[in-house]
Amino acid sequence: MPQTVQPLMEVLGPAERAKLDGGDDAHFYADPRFVQHLDAAFRARLTALYRERIPPGAVVLDLMSSWVSHLPEEVRYREVIGHGLNAQELAANPRLDRHWLQNLNADQRLPLADASVDAALIVAGWQYLQYPEAIAAELLRVVRPQGQVIVAFSNRMFFQKAPRIWTDGDDRDHLATVARVLMAQGWPRPELIAEATPAPGPLGWIGAKGDPFFAVIAARAETAAG
Ligand SMILES: C[S@@+](CC[C@H](N)C(=O)[O-])C[C@H]1O[C@@H](n2cnc3c(N)ncnc32)[C@H](O)[C@@H]1O
Repeated sequence: MPQTVQPLMEVLGPAERAKLDGGDDAHFYADPRFVQHLDAAFRARLTALYRERIPPGAVVLDLMSSWVSHLPEEVRYREVIGHGLNAQELAANPRLDRHWLQNLNADQRLPLADASVDAALIVAGWQYLQYPEAIAAELLRVVRPQGQVIVAFSNRMFFQKAPRIWTDGDDRDHLATVARVLMAQGWPRPELIAEATPAPGPLGWIGAKGDPFFAVIAARAETAAG
């Protein structure tokens, strides 16, 4: 039974939630895509960030995942919980201990207990959320005090599936909107990262650029009241 989550505060207007392809997202993701959505330089930067920020033994939620989670191979976490829209992709993801399927544009209630996750990750996924406020509110509910959310993205998207808030904005707008939505639901002011990456291989050695790297990192305060 789909459940609507009432966010603390709405940030987007109806027009900003609209997307070119209003068809069911589950259909769009019905066939598995065993491809990398981001280049090697972006992925290396993301894995380094995870290594630096997520402690071993953490409970990790990889929301909007696929067959890859970009977590450092050598680090052991207590549990890695995956979510996405394609069963075959998630079943093939070697980092996931368990996973579930859910269309977040139809149902925003996450089937996770309050304060049960240390690090919630979204990679190249936020740009498809039509109700990001409700997801931010749910992440605040499921992430423990002192836990964090890390939203990472680059400058590409399935254009027809991204709401107008994303298609109409530039990289700076994307960082600002993710931060604004998180803060509107009670997350502390996030840290923003915007970096160029070198192109993979010899082109990178001569200065060519890879996928730009953007991340929004918000950490919960120490106490449940924070
Ligand atoms: C570009 S892929 C990124 C996948 C993965 N995070 C990665 O780094 O390769 C976008 C992902 O967003 C998720 N997604 C898109 N629309 C969604 C929706 N309406 N509900 C739930 N997940 C969705 C799917 O899991 C899809 O694989």
